Amino acid sequence: MHYKKNIIVTILFLLFQLADSTAKPFNHASSGRETIPFNKDWQFYFAYNFEKDIKKETVTLPHTWNAMEVLKGVPDYNRASAIYENKFNVLPGWTGKRLFLYFEGANSVATVFVNNKSVGTHKGGYTAFAIEITDAVKPGENSVTVQVSNAYRLDVLPLHGDFNIYGGIHRPVSLILTAKNCISPLDYGSSGVYLKQKQVSKASAEIEVLTKLSLSDDEALSLKTTLLDGNKKVVSTLTSNIGKDQNQELSQSIKLSNPHLWNGKADPYLYEVRVELLQNGQVIDQRSQPLGLRYFSVDPDKGFFLNGKYLDLYGAGRHEDVSGKGSALTDEDHDRDMELMKELGATAARLTHYPHSKHFYELCDKNGIVLWSEIPFVGPGGYTGTGYVKDAELESNIKQMLKELIRQNYNHPSVCFWGLFNELKLNWDDPQPFIKELNTLAKQEDPSRLTTLASNLGKNSYTDLTDLMGWNQYFGWYGGKFDEVGVWADETHAAVPGKSISISEYGAGGSPFKHTEGLIRPEAKGNFHPEEWQTAFHEKHWEELKKRPFLWGKFIWVLADFGSAIRTEGDANGINDKGLVTYDRKIKKDAFYFYKANWNPEPMVYIAERRNTNRSKALTSVKVFSNVANAELWVKGKRIGKKAKNGLNTMIWENVQLSKGNNDILVKTKYKGKELSDSCVWILQ
Ligand code: GCU
Repeated sequence: MHYKKNIIVTILFLLFQLADSTAKPFNHASSGRETIPFNKDWQFYFAYNFEKDIKKETVTLPHTWNAMEVLKGVPDYNRASAIYENKFNVLPGWTGKRLFLYFEGANSVATVFVNNKSVGTHKGGYTAFAIEITDAVKPGENSVTVQVSNAYRLDVLPLHGDFNIYGGIHRPVSLILTAKNCISPLDYGSSGVYLKQKQVSKASAEIEVLTKLSLSDDEALSLKTTLLDGNKKVVSTLTSNIGKDQNQELSQSIKLSNPHLWNGKADPYLYEVRVELLQNGQVIDQRSQPLGLRYFSVDPDKGFFLNGKYLDLYGAGRHEDVSGKGSALTDEDHDRDMELMKELGATAARLTHYPHSKHFYELCDKNGIVLWSEIPFVGPGGYTGTGYVKDAELESNIKQMLKELIRQNYNHPSVCFWGLFNELKLNWDDPQPFIKELNTLAKQEDPSRLTTLASNLGKNSYTDLTDLMGWNQYFGWYGGKFDEVGVWADETHAAVPGKSISISEYGAGGSPFKHTEGLIRPEAKGNFHPEEWQTAFHEKHWEELKKRPFLWGKFIWVLADFGSAIRTEGDANGINDKGLVTYDRKIKKDAFYFYKANWNPEPMVYIAERRNTNRSKALTSVKVFSNVANAELWVKGKRIGKKAKNGLNTMIWENVQLSKGNNDILVKTKYKGKELSDSCVWILQ
């Protein structure tokens, strides 16, 4: 028997609800669980303050203390320790409840105190954790103090990386109130419900519903599990009694014939599984989880298959980082990134280099984006240092993060691949024996997904560690030439027969404010990163990659520019500018529209190099990205002529004559009777 102490707590959290306008109405009566957002009115200060009258700043979560400072381009941004304080009221009135604090992410080590007594520590900034505080609270006012540190250390991931480790409680916090008996909030920050897709085909599906329980007393309990369809109509219901020996978990099985499959972007159909814990016929707890039924496989020679059909997986890596906010993003920020991915026409994404926010996984489920999701086990890339140390503390932290990644995201149908590391090196402690352990752990936790990694070493490194592989390649940026990517892919494919390979990153820096007339190769580490080179990089890469279905994934680096304090290049220090979109998400670069024309079937026409306004050459070419058959070019009101799109959905008019002063460039086309056009002005000096 593993019963917790039967603790009676009396809580009224009216003040919580008043303090946080986003709080949902309390519906304890219907389900026994209430999740109350706890994001407003936190008092913030740095931990190096010792005076009595410390100046505290009132902040709203999500929050980071590094958001503005990194914009100045300071490589030694403040990796420190800070304090967040708040209060809540526990009033007489309720009895027999349990109370938990749930953090979606505090970067990167957080110790939580209730009434100045420590209640738990969590190491790792990108995964959720819950702490039970039932025993720590008292009637009346209670204080919560969270000490958060993003200081450099070698026993918590990430040790390295080309991105900023924004300190703070950078994801939302909530208070969870449950009955004495509940579905466990304490299983590695997960929902407590695991939907295991035992068998899925077009004809039938079998799902094991494993529910973790946290029971504090010996009542007669049962678990009712309901399968709902996309319209929330009940498909089936199953009730099981919870035996005395099942007080930690219960497994149930759902079977259905002719399931409606989750089919990526084409049809991201979601069922819902609702699990209710009943005591004497009354619902005392409830959790609802998305269920997207699908099966997938990867063939070393043919690529990725979803529900038995080939699906070309292409998209971009994404960092959770927006100019002026760092990683403290709101749902609106995540929604905007999803809109960008949809507009781009991506079928997949790589969520780099750490587990992303809960909301983003939900968006990927709903929009049918296939995901590679990974832990922050990141090496130094082209920089010095190591991402791995053979150290028991670090290894235990990495295993904890892998378990959290998998358990917290287990039910997202969008996730097909678990990423174990990125760009680890072999010239420091050899990480390979440990990665084998990680791979075994990933398989134990979740045999239904495939494991992968992202390497920047040669063809024959790391080939026996994970199910699949990926390489980060930058031909024509850090070295080499654009079209070598095709040769690289073919040679690698031949060098590791039987291994399914992908390109896990490819990209080039590009500024929408820097231009060249004609192509000039920039210095990767220089300040001049013209947009035209970035576009050409992607044109040539996609031309090569699209011909190679054996590459099971093709991931651009990166969806949007992001903060990286170690960089002193491009338009501004502190930024990696390989994004298809700028850091503030305001400008979509030309390369974005190149992919949009190729990946998104929605009819469009776009004049490339539009921002290359000041011209010195009277004879120029005009390049248009479009997915309609042909378009007509006009310069200064004069019809130049029609062009048909080529195999890369591009039209090029060569030797177009510009005249002194303003030249209105206009492209017109029609799709199904509807006019489409785009225009810009180029000025010849
Ligand atoms: C690496 C690495 C990224 C990095 C990128 C780059 O391959 O995985 O984190 O940002 O290269 O150099 O831009």
